[in-house]
Parts: sequence; C-alpha cells; structure tokens
Amino acid sequence: MSKTDSLLELPTNLDRSKLPRHVAVIMDGNGRWGKKQGLARVVGHRQGVDTLKDLLRCCRDWGIPALTAYAFSTENWGRPLEEVDFLMALFEGVLRRELAEMNAEQVRIKFVGKLDALPPALQDEIIKAEATTSKNQGIQFTIATNYGSRQEIVQACKSIAEGVKNGSIDPAEIDEKLFGQHLYTHGTPDPDLLIRTSGEMRISNFLLWQLAYAEIYVTDTLWPNFDRQAFHEALLDYQQRHRRFGKV
Ligand code: IPE
Ligand code: IPE
Ligand code: MG
Repeated sequence: MSKTDSLLELPTNLDRSKLPRHVAVIMDGNGRWGKKQGLARVVGHRQGVDTLKDLLRCCRDWGIPALTAYAFSTENWGRPLEEVDFLMALFEGVLRRELAEMNAEQVRIKFVGKLDALPPALQDEIIKAEATTSKNQGIQFTIATNYGSRQEIVQACKSIAEGVKNGSIDPAEIDEKLFGQHLYTHGTPDPDLLIRTSGEMRISNFLLWQLAYAEIYVTDTLWPNFDRQAFHEALLDYQQRHRRFGKV
C-alpha cells in the first residue's frame, strides 16, 4: 500500500487475525512537542487530544476492540499548578464537547484511577460519560486519570481485606482472578500491546499488574505526532513478535 492511502481501512500488510485485542498507550511528549513549536507545553496537551481522538477512530476502523490511554498519573500532581489546572479543564471540556459524538459512534467510555480526588466538575462529566455509554456495543475506551498502578493495587488489597473482615471473602479463595476483580480495570482483558511515545523506556506506574505479558513498543515520535502511519508501524512491529508466555 502506498503512503498516499488514507489508512482508513486496515493496511493490507497487517494480518487481521493477529491484531491486538487491547492496546494501551502512554501518551508522552506533549510538553516537548509544544516547546519544539516555540509554544507553551500546554499547547502540546491540546494537540494531543486530537491525536487520541484519531487513534480511537483508527482502532475502531481497523477492528481493535479496546483502547486504554494514560491521561494523568498520580505523580502528575507534582507539576506546576497552572499545568495541572489546564489539564483538568481540558479533560472536562473535551468530555462535554465530544460525548454526544462518541455515544453516537457506540464508544463505551470508562475511567480508571482515584477519581474522587478530581475536580467535582470533571467528576460530574465522567459519571455522565460512563452512564450514557455503558450499554454501547462499540470500542471500549478507557482513560486512566489520576491513575497510579501502586495506588490501584493498594486499594484492591484494602477492598479484599474489607471483604475478609465482613465475611464476604474467604482468604483461601483469594487468587489472581479475584484480585483482578478488585482492580479498576476489572472486566477488561489485559492489554496485548503497550505503546509509549517520545522514547522513554519506562512504565511510569501504569498498569503494572495488567501489563504482565504485554508486548512493549517505544517510539521516539512525540505523542502529538503519533498518527495512523505511526500506529501502523507499531502494529507491524507487534505482528513480528513471538509471544511465548513463558513457554518454549
Ligand atoms: C504527556 O506529555 C501528557 C501528560 C503527562 C499529561 P508530557 O506533558 O509528559 O510531555 P513531556 O514528556 O514533558 O514532553
Ligand atoms: C506518564 O508520563 C504519564 C502520562 C502519560 C499521563 P510522564 O511524563 O508523567 O512520565 P515520566 O515522568 O516521564 O516518567
Ligand atoms: Mg512526559
């Protein structure tokens, strides 16, 4: 297929039967992108929203049933207040503007993270987005906001401990499956492919439990530049991998 093709359909050199069922992305490099344009870091965040919207549509067009995006980590509160405020307002505005269209496109929206620490106006939009789209049959779109994997694992432990204390959980029945049911991501299969943009070779407290056997793909492309062509390259790389899951 030529570079001029719009990539609206699955590129012919991708094997439909070997597509990941769930892609997770660490959307990194927004600030660097903004600075490179000679603009503020936050301009990169705004541009990054368009990139995410197109990736969501691309997954839908190409038949990938689940996408999870890391939008804000529990560590990101340590950024300058103006940047944090900008991001919270951005998330709220995007949800308000895009919900009707995503709903019409059958997207099922879910947020994971410690949501009760987010600004109340954003929490309201999240509740509305999840409730409006919960019965939709299209792509599962998960947004990790105020998400930290260690926090998630600790709250799962607390929730299980409560269950043991009130008699609803027998300690003997605690296994990986039950543990997974107490994570924010319960009900969504683990990611097959993790993509991190902007070159950093780290997980940054993202889905530590769920990524146990994910294939990891890191690209130097900054998140705002991660287009369909870049995603196509990531999928081609993924399809070359030999997933062994500990076997031979
Ligand atoms: C990722 O881009 C977006 C968030 C963490 C919210 P960054 O803001 O981390 O961009 P860089 O890594 O500083 O370039
Ligand atoms: C990870 O990016 C978090 C998100 C993309 C939301 P960071 O930019 O916060 O990660 P570090 O600081 O480089 O590890
Ligand atoms: Mg970063």
